[in-house]
Amino acid sequence: MPTLTRAQEEKLARLLAERLAAERLAVRLYEAAAAKAEDPRAAASGELQALVRLHLALELEHVSFLEGRMRALGLDPAAPEERELESELAQRGLFDLILRAQEPLARTLPALLGAGMLDHAGWHALVVFANETGDVEARDAFRRRLWEEHEHLERLRAIVSAGRVRREAA
Ligand SMILES: [Fe+2]
Repeated sequence: MPTLTRAQEEKLARLLAERLAAERLAVRLYEAAAAKAEDPRAAASGELQALVRLHLALELEHVSFLEGRMRALGLDPAAPEERELESELAQRGLFDLILRAQEPLARTLPALLGAGMLDHAGWHALVVFANETGDVEARDAFRRRLWEEHEHLERLRAIVSAGRVRREAA
């Protein structure tokens, strides 16, 4: 890993902290979405249920990756500020809608797509940072997660745009 200036260290710490808060929230979002997709009233397809479960597993991996990365840099992923950042995010409209049990799946999925785009942008910021600092190992590790978010968005987008969630479940 290349030597970072003080300002770069601070920027990396901030980017990782923001990403960790967002990925922890993503785990909660997918848990909420899974509960809705598995509710028989939503009449969600087995494909959609499996997709939501797959994304939940992916978000869990993103959380543990970031926690490991932070620990390796001497940062504390369990710091209370991390939880504060996450709960602050959770109150924003888009995320709040997904977390609300009474919001139907037909409204939850487009919001999940929006949340996924933000996740994508967050990993992209880390890839750009690693490129700027010439950290090839970090760039590849961040890029892999960026690609996972991308693929996951594409699959979700296909389901949402095909209108494959029953309107009457709304
Ligand atoms: Fe993620």
